[in-house]
Amino acid sequence: MANLAQIDMARLPQHVAIIMDGNGRWAQKRGLQRVLGHRSGVQAVRRVTEVAAELGVKYLTLYAFSTENWNRPKEEVDALMNLFVDTIEKETPSLKKNNVCLHAIGDMERLPEDARVRFERCIAETSTNTGLHLVIALSYSARWELTEAVRKAVLAAKQEGLKAEDVNEAYVSSLLVTAGMPDPDLLIRTSGELRISNFLLWQLAYAELYFTDVEWPDFGKEEFYEAIYAYQQRERRYGKTGEQVKKS
Ligand code: IPE
Ligand code: IPE
Ligand code: MG
Repeated sequence: MANLAQIDMARLPQHVAIIMDGNGRWAQKRGLQRVLGHRSGVQAVRRVTEVAAELGVKYLTLYAFSTENWNRPKEEVDALMNLFVDTIEKETPSLKKNNVCLHAIGDMERLPEDARVRFERCIAETSTNTGLHLVIALSYSARWELTEAVRKAVLAAKQEGLKAEDVNEAYVSSLLVTAGMPDPDLLIRTSGELRISNFLLWQLAYAELYFTDVEWPDFGKEEFYEAIYAYQQRERRYGKTGEQVKKS
């Protein structure tokens, strides 16, 4: 397991994205209700946010609830919504103290009104902070996001005279919910699943992928260091040859 001394502080990923998976199985293996796994997962969120802020990672994006997760049993969805909002409210003073700027990406319109209002209040309270950007993907899926982007472009063509030749990669990026944020350098997925599950499909184009069997509630400081250490052993070639990359 890697430790802090092994991390090259000059080559930290600027943006780490995490698919926090395995809460349910973690609980079930222990004979507990799934919701207790989610509750335990909140502790892991706290640990990872702390480490990211300490290291000086600029963006941490956490996949908390997908568009597809709305299809889970109503009791689990309700429990998760309560847990999200209670946690965010409880943590807001400490986010403020630690200069963390909170963001939410996703279809917030689908959230229960009360949860959305409370969430947005916390976002507003941290909006002028200049430290870690903590981005919670909530009711998010990449296909939803890309569909919305196409819709916005069609409207811009109709109402603002957008032309086909105005459309380039920068323009497409500007229509996404991550507009203005750097793309993730490192994607971590816990609990042994080897898939992307509709997460940030555009933005992950050149991310380094890191998968671990550790379930999310067991993910801690050392596991995070290990992922960053593994990332730092990779050669990011962006289509070039290894020789070209070494020369630059
Ligand atoms: C991830 O854990 C949290 C959410 C998707 C909300 P899961 O709830 O997916 O846990 P498993 O995959 O069933 O173990
Ligand atoms: C992905 O986890 C979404 C989140 C972590 C919020 P799931 O556990 O829902 O993913 P699949 O459906 O098994 O791929
Ligand atoms: Mg899962």
